[in-house]
Amino acid sequence: MTHPDPDHGGSRADVSTPAPADRPAPAASGGPDQTDRVILRTAADEQGLSGPGPVLVLDDVTGELTAAALAEHAEAAADGSAPVISWAGSDATTDALRRRFRDEIAAGRLQIPGGDRPIPVADVAVSARPHLALMRLPKALADLEHRCRDLAGAGEVTLVAGGRVKHMTRSQNEVLARVFAEVHASRGLGKSRALVASSPREHIEPAATATGIARVRVRGQERDLAVRGIGGVFGGASADAGSLLLLEALDRSLPGATGPAGEPDAATTISAIDLGSGNGLLTAYLAAALPAARVLASDDDADAVASTRATLAANGLARESIAVTWDASLSRVADGTADLVVLNPPFHAGTAIDATLVHGLLDAAARVLRPGGQLWFVHNSYLRYRPEVEQRVGPVRQQARDRRFTVLSATRA
Ligand SMILES: C[S@@+](CC[C@H](N)C(=O)[O-])C[C@H]1O[C@@H](n2cnc3c(N)ncnc32)[C@H](O)[C@@H]1O
Repeated sequence: MTHPDPDHGGSRADVSTPAPADRPAPAASGGPDQTDRVILRTAADEQGLSGPGPVLVLDDVTGELTAAALAEHAEAAADGSAPVISWAGSDATTDALRRRFRDEIAAGRLQIPGGDRPIPVADVAVSARPHLALMRLPKALADLEHRCRDLAGAGEVTLVAGGRVKHMTRSQNEVLARVFAEVHASRGLGKSRALVASSPREHIEPAATATGIARVRVRGQERDLAVRGIGGVFGGASADAGSLLLLEALDRSLPGATGPAGEPDAATTISAIDLGSGNGLLTAYLAAALPAARVLASDDDADAVASTRATLAANGLARESIAVTWDASLSRVADGTADLVVLNPPFHAGTAIDATLVHGLLDAAARVLRPGGQLWFVHNSYLRYRPEVEQRVGPVRQQARDRRFTVLSATRA
C-alpha cells in the first residue's frame, strides 16, 4: 500500500464518494473473477486440486479460491485434519472468510488459522504440509518472497499464483526461482495469467527482516529510531515522508519542544493509538515521547503487526503498557477511551487508488476518541480531506503542509 503519486492530477480531488474499485470486497460471493479463474484452471491443468495433503489458499479476498478448493478437494487428510486451509494476512479478510464459510468450518472441512493473533504462514505450512498453494500475486516483491520462503517449509508443494498481466514482471519469476527449482507461466486467460512454482529448493532461509533508521525529533531532541519491515508491510523499513511530517508537527506541539507548549506532557498518563501502525515508526515515536502513556498499535495486516513489534524491540521501547494488535479499524477498542490517535491511512486497495478507504478509519478514530481527544492525520496535499475530517471527528487545524503532504489535527467534538 503506497500513497498515490502527489504529482498525479493538479487539482484537488474529491474524496467523498467511493472510486470504482478494481478488486472485489473481501470474501464477497460475486463469483470468481478472471484471476481466480486462471489460478483454478492452472491448478487443474497441473495436477488438480486433490492430492496427498490439504490445499492451502492464501489471502483469498474474493473467497472464491476457498470455495473452489472446498468443492473439489473434499476428503479429509489421513490424520483427520481439514482438506482446505484458508489463511489471510488481513484480519478483515479472515473475518469475512469465517463468516462466509461458517458451516464448512463447523463440519471440519475448512480451517482458517488465526484468532486474536495472526499465525505465520511458515507455521501453517510446516504443520499442515499442503500439496498445493493458491494465491494472487501480491503487489510487493518483498511480500511474494516472504510468502514463498514461508511455504518452502511445507516440503513438496506446488504454488499457483495468479495476477493481471499488466502487473506481472520478470522479477516475480526471479523471486519464485530463488525458492523453487521449477517455475513456469500458465496460458493466459483474458488479461490474467498464473505462475506455477514447484520443487522447493533445500535449506531455504526465512525472508530477512528489512532494517532502516529514521531520524526524528523526540521532545525537541534529534533521535535515530530503528525501523523494521517484514514481508509486504507498507514502506518496508523506511520512513514514509508523510509520517515524518506528521511526527515533526506533533513533536512541535508537545512540551519540551521548541514550539508552543501544549498537552500532554511526558509524565501524563494518556491513552494513545497508532491506527494502521505499518512498520511501527509512529508507535516507536509515541513510546519514546510519551513514556507514561498507554500505547496501542493496531493494524489489519499481519506483516505490519510483526513489523511494529520488531521496531519496538529494536529500539528497546517495548513495555507492558504498549500493546500491538491485529485488528481491522480498532474493532476491539471501546468507544470514547483514547486521548490521541495518529493516522497515516492507506489510499490504495491492491493496485487501485481509493481515496475513500480513509472513511472507515476516520470513523474508527472518531468512535474511540473521548470528547476533547485529538486525531493527528496526514494525507496527500492534492486530496481535500478537511471537510471529511471535520464532519466525522470535529474541528480541524492544519498543523503542517508541504508540496506532497498535509497534516491535520481534529479535536473530537
Ligand atoms: C499508509 S500505511 C501507514 C503505516 C504507518 N503508520 C506509517 O506511517 O508508515 C497504512 C496502514 O494502515 C493499515 N490498514 C489499512 N486498513 C486498515 C484497517 N481497516 N484497520 C487497521 N489498519 C489498516 C495498512 O495495513 C497499513 O499498514
